[in-house]
Amino acid sequence: MREGQFSRTALGAAGRRAAHQVIDGARVFDDPLALRILGPDADAAVAEARADPALRGLRFYVAMRSRFAEDAARRAIAHGIRQIVVLGAGLDTFAYRVEPIEGLRVTEVDHPATQAEKRRRLAAAAIAAPSHVVYAACDFETESLADALAASGFDAGRPSVFLWLGVVPYLTEPAIFATLAFIGALAGGSEVVFDYSSMAAPIAGGGRRRVHEIVRARAEAAGEPLRTFFATPALHEKLRAFGFRSIEDLDPNEIVARFFPERAARSSEGGGHFVLAGTSPPRAATA
Ligand SMILES: C[S@@+](CC[C@H](N)C(=O)[O-])C[C@H]1O[C@@H](n2cnc3c(N)ncnc32)[C@H](O)[C@@H]1O
Repeated sequence: MREGQFSRTALGAAGRRAAHQVIDGARVFDDPLALRILGPDADAAVAEARADPALRGLRFYVAMRSRFAEDAARRAIAHGIRQIVVLGAGLDTFAYRVEPIEGLRVTEVDHPATQAEKRRRLAAAAIAAPSHVVYAACDFETESLADALAASGFDAGRPSVFLWLGVVPYLTEPAIFATLAFIGALAGGSEVVFDYSSMAAPIAGGGRRRVHEIVRARAEAAGEPLRTFFATPALHEKLRAFGFRSIEDLDPNEIVARFFPERAARSSEGGGHFVLAGTSPPRAATA
């Protein structure tokens, strides 16, 4: 990321969510604050999405990713989890929409420049931060997440859920593994939701290749290049070594099948995966 500057990719992701509300009728992910937090940038995001049909796949990817993560967070809250951490929060609005509940704490962690810009936008949009919102600044590449969270009052002895959306591909492998090792060593019942891209090389043909190329080109132009891809088996091995005992990993076909079961599966290609990993065995589903 460019030193001291607000993350341009955070603006991009927020723009996809805003466009999803207007163009897709919030079909997958309903975020009533998505347009408001963008302020004057909302119109441009929607106009860009309308002008370039190639952005549709990316828009749905971002919408499905947020839905997957928020479903997991709300399930965890229903099971009694009260500490949620949004890593690399960007302009994500979960903390400002989640139902307030006794004891809830939602900590947003980000680069200081991005966090400052978010707080400016929240104020400009008159979106009040509920009392459960806590801010912690951290550079995952150079600072200790454990220290940043401890300084913000995070209780490492209580199970927590971490939402880490659209961040892993921009980090180096050591920074990613340091964060996963930290979460994997937390109290049983802790979970992390993140997305990653499987190895760049196998991505072949079709719409997913196009999405990948759009993301890569935009990330480069933003000064936030994609740095890390994972082969799925190797990543799972690492997760298990870090203490994760349940791993749900949706590949691109499974993501589409989850949210659009009526669509036929495509042939196997690389691309974005959604992961929900937990430090306890998988939780039984609630009715
Ligand atoms: C593509 S944006 C995603 C934002 C948000 N999670 C979302 O889904 O809209 C990437 C986010 O990762 C953050 N980020 C990237 N590198 C980081 C680092 N080294 N330390 C802390 N945050 C970082 C950026 O500030 C930005 O908020």
